[in-house]
Amino acid sequence: MEQFVVTGGARLGGSVSVLGAKNAVLKHLVATLLAPGSHRLENVPGILDVHIMCRVLEHVGASCAIAGSTIDIDVPVHLRPEAPIDLVRQMRASILVLGALLARCGEARVALPGGDDFGSRPIDMHLGGLESMGATFDLVHGVLHATAPDGLIGADVHLEFPSVGATENLLLAGVMARGTTTIGNAAREPEIQDLAAFLGAMGARISGAGTSTIVVEGVPSMSPAIHRVVPDRLEAGTYLVAGAITGGDVTVTDCVPEHLRMELRKLVEAGCEVTTGDDWVRVVGPERPLPVDFATLPYPGFHTDMHPQMVALLTLASGTSVMTENIYSARFRYVGELNRLGAEVTLEGQHLIVRGVATLSGCPVDACDIRAGAALVLAGMVADGYTTVVDAQHIDRGYHDFVPKLASLGAEIRREDVPG
Ligand code: UD1
Repeated sequence: MEQFVVTGGARLGGSVSVLGAKNAVLKHLVATLLAPGSHRLENVPGILDVHIMCRVLEHVGASCAIAGSTIDIDVPVHLRPEAPIDLVRQMRASILVLGALLARCGEARVALPGGDDFGSRPIDMHLGGLESMGATFDLVHGVLHATAPDGLIGADVHLEFPSVGATENLLLAGVMARGTTTIGNAAREPEIQDLAAFLGAMGARISGAGTSTIVVEGVPSMSPAIHRVVPDRLEAGTYLVAGAITGGDVTVTDCVPEHLRMELRKLVEAGCEVTTGDDWVRVVGPERPLPVDFATLPYPGFHTDMHPQMVALLTLASGTSVMTENIYSARFRYVGELNRLGAEVTLEGQHLIVRGVATLSGCPVDACDIRAGAALVLAGMVADGYTTVVDAQHIDRGYHDFVPKLASLGAEIRREDVPG
């Protein structure tokens, strides 16, 4: 067990680059299962979730060789179509193998997913969509047995909500289905566009990715491909808020500013100076943030995975902000931890009322999940004294070199083993 120890007070300055998006590369890894042969993914972050997904692929029969930010994946002709409980429990994205294995093998056995504790996170839309494509499901001792003995057949699927995972599972299932699959009310996230680009390089015929209607014309087979993963807008956004909260001056490079449009707009409303170039964003933080109201929404709305970091910033605002969480029913465990640091945040249904305070005061807090952990580190950087963020492995799931990158910007932060 490790923890991060942060000493508050330093204004961050300088520039930091980001790698490929966790929420893209995990799906790209699954997509490789669709075509036997040697694939290569570049710009891959060395994060825990990537290692877990590689273990899922290895269980299925593929081999993954990681060298720096490149992964070579070798996919055999014959696969073992199952994802074991110990891996699926650690990472909800493992459910994506369902669509890919059904497409490749006509069957899949996948334990029901775990992942972050954000309240109930059902997979009904994944299953409903796959059922309309000819799959049948049976739950046996917590393991979902999926079969499509006659292969998957293209279908019109209209999602009740633009779920990222369901859209991706249906894309993976549709690329080799017989006929045309149309995904209505599809998620429009840049990571989905990037998955479609990788699948396109593998030979898939997909149009409309990035819009609410994606059309997939099934092809009989796919071939291996090389792909550079889209930059991580959440990693980029987190370092930008780190600059903002410390009243610093931080530039994030190798990112796509367009993918952070709503988050940057809210930083401007909070009093930050924001400038952008083709592949960089610079944020100069205010002496004290202004209060801002915002609501999380599917892309292009404000990303739910940036909400804890933004709330950390607003704890120090010169007034009261209201945040509405529309994606998850229970993404609020970290609020109690922020309040231990002296913040005044109250939960009213799906709304957080954030009353700005003049100072925070360091103490031990629990990372809770990836983004909450990052937000608590950011709060620690402006808290009086030092803040210990325990359960730091949550942060390692999503951020490559979090401590060295923040330290390179001037943060006083170190990683240490939990005593005892
Ligand atoms: C992905 C991201 C996650 C991000 C989320 C929303 C990955 C690995 N994770 O998660 O970081 O927070 O998108 O941008 O890419 N839902 C259902 N039934 C379903 C599917 C989803 O009710 O069948 C609900 C979920 O419980 C949640 C909401 O829909 O409340 C959004 O979920 P979804 O968009 O599917 O998120 P994930 O793909 O799980």
